[in-house]
Amino acid sequence: MKIDVLTLFPAMFAGPLDESIIKRAREAGLLDLSIHQLRDYAHDRHRTVDDRPFGGGPGMLLKPEPIFEAVESLASDQARVVLLSPSGRTFDQATAQELAKVEHLVLVSGHYEGFDERVRENLADDELSIGDYVLTNGALPVMVVIDAVTRLLPGVLGDDSSAVEESFSHGLLEYPQFTRPAEFRGMKVPEVLLSGNHAAIAKWRAEQARLRTSERRPDLL
Ligand SMILES: C[S@@+](CC[C@H](N)C(=O)[O-])C[C@H]1O[C@@H](n2cnc3c(N)ncnc32)[C@H](O)[C@@H]1O
Repeated sequence: MKIDVLTLFPAMFAGPLDESIIKRAREAGLLDLSIHQLRDYAHDRHRTVDDRPFGGGPGMLLKPEPIFEAVESLASDQARVVLLSPSGRTFDQATAQELAKVEHLVLVSGHYEGFDERVRENLADDELSIGDYVLTNGALPVMVVIDAVTRLLPGVLGDDSSAVEESFSHGLLEYPQFTRPAEFRGMKVPEVLLSGNHAAIAKWRAEQARLRTSERRPDLL
């Protein structure tokens, strides 16, 4: 998968996407990631990317011209252009699965008060929010989307079934898991998990997933 990111803060991306599973996915050529500075597409002396909102009000808005120019130069015919914005539809596991099938993503990170509306209406294919709160800019949301999508690409996780049996993949939270020792400070692992009876274990896990979801996230049921 190819992902192009448009941001005012490329340095924020160094680190989180250079570690662990995402790093290995990049090295293996499963993820081709490029980070682009939005100011490189502004052509005045100060490389201006923002301006005051028409009609007044606080803060500054991202101007349309640099974003249109950048996206038009980066996006291939099959690219999906996604804005990160608190007004977008909420990003969830189903959306991550949907985006993992796309060949080319262009992720556009906002700043200040956000985007000129013409960017939303005429350039973006989609607008995603990572939750009902407001961050200073879209770099962290972009990284959240990249991380969640990349781990779903075939071959990225050591065992692709890891992404099948986890929270949200079947609409439920994940069942409780335990590892050695079987007893720690008097706390015992449920007997069924030590039984070797795979049918009983699968049944227990399904019940626990349902129970945990009904207790913590009844909205998912
Ligand atoms: C300060 S926010 C702008 C908030 C905007 N004035 C509003 O009320 O919706 C600046 C940028 O951060 C990013 N951002 C902030 N919170 C976000 C969230 N929950 N999900 C996705 N992007 C977010 C967006 O790219 C946004 O354009």
